[in-house]
Amino acid sequence: MIRSVLVIGSGTMGHGIAEVSAIAGYNVYLSDISKDILDNAMQKIKWSLEKLYEKGNLKESVENVLGRIKTIIGLPNELREIDISIEAIPEKLDLKRQLFSKLEELLPNSAILATNTSSLPITEIAMAVKKQERVIGTHFFNPPVLMQLVEIIRGSKTSDETVKQTYEFIKSLGKRPIIVNKDVPGFVVNRILLRIITTACMLIENGVCDYTTVDAVARYKLGFPMGVFELVDYTGVDVNYYVSSAMIERGFKAYPCRTLEEMTKKGYLGVKTGKGFYTYPSNKYIKPNLPPQLAEKLNPLYIIAPAIIEANWMVKNGIASREDIDLGVRLGLSFPKGIFDYEREYGRENVVKALEELKKISNMEEYLSE
Ligand code: NAI
Repeated sequence: MIRSVLVIGSGTMGHGIAEVSAIAGYNVYLSDISKDILDNAMQKIKWSLEKLYEKGNLKESVENVLGRIKTIIGLPNELREIDISIEAIPEKLDLKRQLFSKLEELLPNSAILATNTSSLPITEIAMAVKKQERVIGTHFFNPPVLMQLVEIIRGSKTSDETVKQTYEFIKSLGKRPIIVNKDVPGFVVNRILLRIITTACMLIENGVCDYTTVDAVARYKLGFPMGVFELVDYTGVDVNYYVSSAMIERGFKAYPCRTLEEMTKKGYLGVKTGKGFYTYPSNKYIKPNLPPQLAEKLNPLYIIAPAIIEANWMVKNGIASREDIDLGVRLGLSFPKGIFDYEREYGRENVVKALEELKKISNMEEYLSE
């Protein structure tokens, strides 16, 4: 039974994970490398709790919840009561491995060692410890307080018991966990998303259409909350470039997008720099204006078919269930429906036909195969 939670790293993700854990009633230890960083994290948590309270979304006082979070600099030797640790330090394998081997020394043998990594294989992080069966991925989405989805990822040695306990823990936070049975690059949600982004990029680089057409189709025909390139701008052109390159390096067969690389080099990083595919005066996000008639210029299947094939590949290879993949895209990407709903609506035959056309355009046979 989980009572005490240790969150390591109090940055963008860590402070949010600590907050949701404290709201759910757990005793939380929040660790980082300096007092200033921790003070800043606690300020953000307080601000967020006050907002929740004002909206009537907090059952107790802000002070009560804050009282359950204890900040710690580094990892002292007093952590014998921890039942689960969630690591949210920078995305560097060596750094995470060093930390995990230290955690193994300091925490009780029964504690679950979770990582919030968004792209590193759980199995490779787990290699830093002896009892690898207790290492697992818990991939929260940003911001953890508002996003309901958490991907729970098995490493090759993760035990069923660890999965079960982690699943119950994530549910107790009021989140919706999905199970990813193998730590494939991108897990479930980023695989689907990157399939869409890299294909969209392939279409513009091969002159099939321009980025505004892709975005109009995504918005008006597929019902995505944002266009594909609008989303890239929003989350960071560089972030998308690095994530897709890292996934391709680790064996994800996808079209390598030169446009993202060039824009990253030029510093056109999207909303945060004021210029990406679209421009953002004062570096603030504004919804690009896209005429609906643009959406008539491209077959929507050119965008969604590769994601449908990816989803089928994941089911066939036991990576995730159909239900979990559908839940993942609805909650993680805010799609109006599941990937398999798109497949049903467009029809399998049309999906396969679009895929054959995409293969011809891209001249990449191995890409987009089930
Ligand atoms: P961040 O850079 O905002 O925060 C990392 C924190 O870790 C910093 O406060 C840093 O001082 C601290 N830190 C570094 N070494 C430490 C150590 N040895 N002990 C304790 N604290 C240490 O990073 P962010 O964005 O929160 O990412 C954390 C992890 O979550 C990464 O693995 C990332 O890939 C993953 N992730 C990030 C998402 C995002 O949208 N930012 C979404 C989902 C996952």
